[in-house]
Amino acid sequence: MNKIYRIPDRLIQKYSVIGPRYTSYPTVPVWGPVDLDTQKLWYHELANSDRPLSLYFHIPFCRERCSYCGCNTMITQNQGKATDYVSYLLAELDKLASYGLSHKKLRQLHFGGGTPTFLLDAEFKQIIGKVREHFTFEEGAELAIEVDPCSTHDGQLEMLAELGFNRLSLGLQDFNPQVQQAVNRIQSLEITKAHIDLARKLGFKGVNLDLMYGLPHQSLESMKETFEQVISLKPDRLALYNFAYLPEQLPHQKLIHLEDLPNEKVKLEIFFAAIEAFGRAGYEYIGMDHFAKSDDELSKAQHSRRLYRNFMGYSPKSGVDLVGIGITSIGETEHYFLQNEKTLSQYQKQIEAEGLAGAKGIRLSLDDRIRKWTILRLMCHFYLSFVEFEAAFHQDFKTYFAGELAGIEDMVEEGLLKVEADHIQVLDWGKLLVRNICMRFDAYLKGDQAPKVKFSKTL
Ligand SMILES: C[S@@+](CC[C@H](N)C(=O)[O-])C[C@H]1O[C@@H](n2cnc3c(N)ncnc32)[C@H](O)[C@@H]1O
Ligand code: SF4
Repeated sequence: MNKIYRIPDRLIQKYSVIGPRYTSYPTVPVWGPVDLDTQKLWYHELANSDRPLSLYFHIPFCRERCSYCGCNTMITQNQGKATDYVSYLLAELDKLASYGLSHKKLRQLHFGGGTPTFLLDAEFKQIIGKVREHFTFEEGAELAIEVDPCSTHDGQLEMLAELGFNRLSLGLQDFNPQVQQAVNRIQSLEITKAHIDLARKLGFKGVNLDLMYGLPHQSLESMKETFEQVISLKPDRLALYNFAYLPEQLPHQKLIHLEDLPNEKVKLEIFFAAIEAFGRAGYEYIGMDHFAKSDDELSKAQHSRRLYRNFMGYSPKSGVDLVGIGITSIGETEHYFLQNEKTLSQYQKQIEAEGLAGAKGIRLSLDDRIRKWTILRLMCHFYLSFVEFEAAFHQDFKTYFAGELAGIEDMVEEGLLKVEADHIQVLDWGKLLVRNICMRFDAYLKGDQAPKVKFSKTL
């Protein structure tokens, strides 16, 4: 069972600052434009890497807009748009395969959105058919998909299971009717339960539910009720996202009024209540926003220090090269990050011209790789071994990070982490403030190199 990590007010005041979520290091704001020659070079390097592949497909369509939504999505009733989009995904896959990637084993495949279940059965079959034409799935490969229970059709989960999908994540946010009304997302307990039960019956594992706190009309009491309802459905995993309210950048969020949102103090109470309720029900706190049953692969991967973190969240599968397909999708290897064009028109233009649609990214320097390794260890394992560091980089951790180690002495004194002779251990309070700890190892947050963009609050 989870301990209850209630952080003292003095630490909340000190550490509630704006900071990165470290789904990548270096973080997206420091990436730059990437030209076609660079992309080709990267794909040739990828072809020569001996790591297995993970493919991410971004399906940006939704039939209706939830007014809180911060995802990269397009609202349409026109099924033809998706059909057209799928033809570009297939072309992109062919092009990737032509760069010599097709001998690679696939360890992971993920469909995210938007709402991937917007696609027709025939379109799923086309995409998976094309994937199988070019690649071979590893034994035990994960095929994951994000599902909106309000917009699936009869037989769709069965079809996905038949195609080999075996991991599933369902959007929910909150069961409270007033909240659902205020965010234009009406989703009953019954329909959510039916999806979870069916997924189980069909053999899906790691079934996840997305929740959000900070939405209009949420209170500590209403959220405690939602948490109990959620627990009664017995998902394997839970994500509890802090609502990012950015009405200036996302005009549709103006439908949500600032005065209806819970204040920061209530939000923190809700968050602590979640840790307590989920802990009592047997969920472990995996790290930023995520909980998993002790026997779920995510918890097991954390215990055995195999857990990884990328743009799709936490993953039990580390040691893979990730390739993103479709608009905004992000690829990642040990040496680079690469993000595709963000708009449909630019994406289509690039695919038509070159078959590749990368727009921005970064090639990692040795220092970037060292800090990425360090931040990932702290975020995913709450533990960092100096011996492993030396084996990976042939450098002494304490010498390389002498300045940073001196700079975290206040955190050590406050009980956020321990620095021992051969390792760093993040302690309970530090687990909730792990972004703040990682920020001390982020070279780009120092001096005048600090990115001039807004990140979200760390607490
Ligand atoms: C792509 S959606 C999930 C799949 C599907 N579209 C659905 O809504 O059921 C990904 C998740 O991002 C989270 N999310 C969306 N907008 C957000 C925001 N403004 N702030 C924080 N989390 C957000 C929600 O929890 C949502 O379920
Ligand atoms: S939350 Fe999901 S269903 Fe709602 S608009 Fe965003 S991507 Fe679409």
